[in-house]
Amino acid sequence: MTIEPIAWDSDRLRLLDQTRLPVEEVWLELTNHHEVAEAITSMRVRGAPAIGVAGAYGIALAALSSAASDLDALIADLRSAAGQLIATRPTGANLSWAVKRTLAAAQAADGLEEARRAALNEALLIQREDIEGNRALGQYGLELVPERATVLTHCNAGALATAGYGTALGIVRAAVEAGRQINVVVTETRPLSQGARLTAWELLRDGIACRLIVDSAAGSLLQQGDADLVVVGADRIAANGDTANKIGTYPIAVLAREHGVPFYVAAPTSTIDMSLRSGDGIVIEERPADEVSSSAGRRIAPEDVQVSNPAFDVTPHDLIAAIITERGIARQPFVDALRNLTR
Ligand code: MRU
Repeated sequence: MTIEPIAWDSDRLRLLDQTRLPVEEVWLELTNHHEVAEAITSMRVRGAPAIGVAGAYGIALAALSSAASDLDALIADLRSAAGQLIATRPTGANLSWAVKRTLAAAQAADGLEEARRAALNEALLIQREDIEGNRALGQYGLELVPERATVLTHCNAGALATAGYGTALGIVRAAVEAGRQINVVVTETRPLSQGARLTAWELLRDGIACRLIVDSAAGSLLQQGDADLVVVGADRIAANGDTANKIGTYPIAVLAREHGVPFYVAAPTSTIDMSLRSGDGIVIEERPADEVSSSAGRRIAPEDVQVSNPAFDVTPHDLIAAIITERGIARQPFVDALRNLTR
């Protein structure tokens, strides 16, 4: 079965530690929201939908571990936990969406124990919906994938970035399950190598053909006609279709346009932020300098070099041929299409 990196186990959250992959499969056991916040910050769990699910369980854990003796005190504790969880990673839309949804479920309850149960039930539901949604998204994406296709993808928008099955890789999985001959080109995705470490790992695990390239090889590969389509995930999509995704996505979109290769974004509707008119309003997370100045724990740049490390870039909507969601496909003009899908 395709890996599912998040599991609820009676009173604790089990997470597959993605910082240890592909070398070893280590499962963490978390019992409070502080541990969940740490796991998100340090990217033991990562990918916009996956951190949303983890955040929801963070609220459930806060509810279970709170010493509050009445509902108001519990809700105050949960609000504080929500603030801490949402602050961990600002760019992905799904984190605040899932945390607020779980908090709201607790707030709607009538009593203390009911609120605790409601928070956990909501987190379980968000996790289940994510997997079901990714399967639906994969089916919608089928119409964009030829019978034989080479698909270029960036970062990891797979089972590991979600509760399971994946978004961009959900389309790949659906195509493979439909009997199509799919080859995936995986960009390594510096600085944290989500492509090399995670996408390659989960594709090989599922027996899906793939080959790894360095990020800077994407241009010549597209120039040589060596990819039929590009499919990436998304961390936040503005109302006009501008899409924040892993740093390095934007140059691939420009190159795809230059060489006539369709560029698609796959994401659940929970990634769409209709409150932002355009990508200009998307907050781009700046990550620690040592992620760039080191590689696999070894320093590769001089000690005193200045570093900038934006974790995401924004691809303008006009470079995107379609946005595939669990409710259908949005095409240009995205404003109307996304409004309809999120209604
Ligand atoms: O920094 P990460 O690894 O959490 O970033 C995740 C991405 O940007 C992925 O590429 C993905 O498209 C979004 S999650 C399906």
